[in-house]
Amino acid sequence: MEKEIQVFNSRSDLPKPIADLVDMAEEAVRDAYAPYSNFYVGAAVLLADGTVIKGSNFENASYPLCLCAERVALGSVHSQYPGSTVKSIAVTAKNPKQAVTEPVAPCGACRQVLLEYEQKQGSPLQVIMFGESGKVVVSESSEQLLPMAFGHKFLV
Ligand code: THU
Repeated sequence: MEKEIQVFNSRSDLPKPIADLVDMAEEAVRDAYAPYSNFYVGAAVLLADGTVIKGSNFENASYPLCLCAERVALGSVHSQYPGSTVKSIAVTAKNPKQAVTEPVAPCGACRQVLLEYEQKQGSPLQVIMFGESGKVVVSESSEQLLPMAFGHKFLV
């Protein structure tokens, strides 16, 4: 599996397929429900057949029940497009209280879920991370975002 992280200094430097997915993740931010954290996260997942699935975070007054955008999007893929190959996921966020000027990095739990999806499909799952401004970071696989990961190998 290719191991590479690319950093783009501006959105205008992005190749078209990445730029398009970035736009969709931004669209997904509008659907976020985040009245407690004010951190409105959007994710867009690109399937091998070109379909794009959006997800956004979905909070709850009982804080541990909050759902992350990435897992909402991947859960939709799992239920609506079972068995699909996921090529890429783009993730971003907006915070009306403090502009997000760095690429949004998926939390550890989402990295674990992305990694398992990547292993299950047997092909790289690219992760695209960006904020309201600043650089765009593209990881060519999910594996490299979670070194020394727990996984199925411990459970045989
Ligand atoms: N959040 C995500 O949606 N994705 C991440 O990878 C990081 C965190 C959400 C969860 C919660 O609704 C808010 O951001 C603040 O943690």
